[in-house]
Amino acid sequence: MAILPVLGGRFTFPGTSLTVHRMGYGAMQLAGPGVFGPPKDPDAAVAVLCEAVAAGVNHIDTSDFYGPHITNQIIRKALHPYPAGLVIVTKLGARRPADGSWRPASSPQELIAAVHDNLRNLGLDALDIVNYRAPGAIHEPAEGSIAGPVTLLADLRRQGLIRHIGVSNVTAAQVAEAQAITPVVCVQNHYNLAHRHDDALIADLARQGIAYVPFFPLGGFTPLQSSTLSGVAARLGAAPMQIALAWLLQRSPNILLIPGTSSVAHLRENLVAAQFTLSPQALAELDGVAAAPVAAGH
Ligand SMILES: NC(=O)c1ccc[n+]([C@@H]2O[C@H](COP(=O)([O-])OP(=O)(O)OC[C@H]3O[C@@H](n4cnc5c(N)ncnc54)[C@H](OP(=O)(O)O)[C@@H]3O)[C@@H](O)[C@H]2O)c1
Repeated sequence: MAILPVLGGRFTFPGTSLTVHRMGYGAMQLAGPGVFGPPKDPDAAVAVLCEAVAAGVNHIDTSDFYGPHITNQIIRKALHPYPAGLVIVTKLGARRPADGSWRPASSPQELIAAVHDNLRNLGLDALDIVNYRAPGAIHEPAEGSIAGPVTLLADLRRQGLIRHIGVSNVTAAQVAEAQAITPVVCVQNHYNLAHRHDDALIADLARQGIAYVPFFPLGGFTPLQSSTLSGVAARLGAAPMQIALAWLLQRSPNILLIPGTSSVAHLRENLVAAQFTLSPQALAELDGVAAAPVAAGH
């Protein structure tokens, strides 16, 4: 596949030498059903990663609790030794018991073990960026101090195991609390065309040059469905998911995309989303999606 020069332009994480294309890739979909166990076709998962990197993607989002361990092992198999400039962002704060459920894992022992699990399964000596993923429902973050886990990550950063720190599933107050402890280079929260709880936070982070990385950019496990989105896409000769991504790229310059897919065809579709420029009229129509009664489900 030809190198795509666009990929949404570039972004440098603040205070770092890490520059990525704004169009990245989220690896969660590479594990088995329910993000648990191995995928049905491991070779297809490897192919998606190889295709993404060949197309110029240099920002991959993952976690060792995807699988668990399996997604990182697939990344290592597909891409190690990693090409220069590839930024792998991982996250800590959950664990997956044998029943496949998602449980918080934020004690010092659990966080330290998770850092070492990520290092081992990715085949790295240090992790570029680690997000502390706060516990709480996926739809809205819950207030509560995150000082303990963030302080521990800052210690691990001083030890050289982590290069930079981000936070995930957090409120504005929790971002500020983390920033009082350590520089924060990115925030990863639930946000998309239909779920705009973080509009004010995105603007505040943009003023500070901090990356905002929406998870579920396409709606997550049940991708976005909206007649408005489909209508705008049809007029532009695009697929609806491409317009959902183009909207995010136009929404704010500090937004970095990590759409997830297990399919090379969907990956190819997503990677060219930046070529669609949305007119003020299209943006106004799409702004109405969040106000619609049922625009997305999870
Ligand atoms: N911090 C957190 O708490 C958190 C939570 C969730 C996710 N994440 C991260 O965010 C990343 C993105 O989230 P996500 O993967 O859950 O959700 P997403 O990117 O919003 O959507 C993924 C879903 O959309 C489908 N899809 C992708 N491209 C498509 C296309 N062009 N046309 C139609 N369907 C398409 C995928 O199915 P196919 O596989 O069939 O393409 C999959 O079902 C994850 O990979 C993960 O790294 C973080």
